[in-house]
Amino acid sequence: MAEIRELGSSEKAFLEAFLPQEVNSDLPFVTLTYAQSLDSKISLGPGLRTTLSGPETKAMTHFLRLKHDAILVGVATAMADNPGLNCRYPGATAESQPRPVVVDSEPKWQYNSSKVLELTKEGKGKGPWIITMRQGKDQSTPEDLKKHGGEIIPLEPTTGIPTAPTSGHIPWDTILKSLKKRGINSVMIEGGANVITNILGMPELVDSVIITIAPTWLGTGGVTVSPASKTEDGKPTSAANLTDTKYHQFGADVVLCGRLETVQMQARS
Ligand SMILES: NC(=O)c1ccc[n+]([C@@H]2O[C@H](COP(=O)([O-])OP(=O)(O)OC[C@H]3O[C@@H](n4cnc5c(N)ncnc54)[C@H](OP(=O)(O)O)[C@@H]3O)[C@@H](O)[C@H]2O)c1
Repeated sequence: MAEIRELGSSEKAFLEAFLPQEVNSDLPFVTLTYAQSLDSKISLGPGLRTTLSGPETKAMTHFLRLKHDAILVGVATAMADNPGLNCRYPGATAESQPRPVVVDSEPKWQYNSSKVLELTKEGKGKGPWIITMRQGKDQSTPEDLKKHGGEIIPLEPTTGIPTAPTSGHIPWDTILKSLKKRGINSVMIEGGANVITNILGMPELVDSVIITIAPTWLGTGGVTVSPASKTEDGKPTSAANLTDTKYHQFGADVVLCGRLETVQMQARS
């Protein structure tokens, strides 16, 4: 596996304002981060693992992972990409590893054969937490997961801010509050499309947005990330806006940072 380089001082300075800070809240500090093409796609097709970012931005991702207590992905990403969800930044220790969190309503993720558990067994990552829907049956954590520090966390699908557009899912504020209660002060949400699309529509839950833009178009068959359209007083408005924006070039990629704002741009009448 390719070694991860250390970021330079200008790269660290660029990211500084968007790194986790202490928040006096029942929610953790939330960073939404992902890599997209010029046509706002994050993969070539549903379930297709697609490398978009170059080695320079990979180093940034591992630097960011070092600064967060947890990394969260949706189950489709865990299944399609089989990601390691650990930190390989120089100097990262077993202790400083982020907690991998997979949101999996059923749950259906085969953690036993996952790279996450393989790395945990090698002491290169923490045991995964699997957030699932409470179902009125035995949902205790199996011994093979428990002994590696992993946990099944069943949560109610019915309280808090409703999660659009998928019904019957766990509200995102419930997920984030439960992480905070377990000592997670900062979480990096990394994908996939379903998760990003929903989170982009909830600016009140997100503190930082860090998007890698790769200089490529994936084409019309690719998986797009975009929040659901909105209207105000019957007129179309923008669905989400970034504010406090800053950008920096990492190799051939551009990294755009900002914060989600709640005010929309209205169409001219
Ligand atoms: N370029 C990038 O930065 C990047 C990063 C990550 C992933 N990806 C790509 O993204 C694609 C996968 O995206 P995806 O949209 O198919 O799936 P996804 O977002 O990874 O996972 C979606 C699934 O997670 C579960 N889930 C999400 N929110 C939930 C909630 N609030 N409560 C309960 N369960 C919840 C649901 O599972 P159920 O349907 O079982 O309920 C949902 O269908 C892959 O191609 C991957 O390569 C790209």
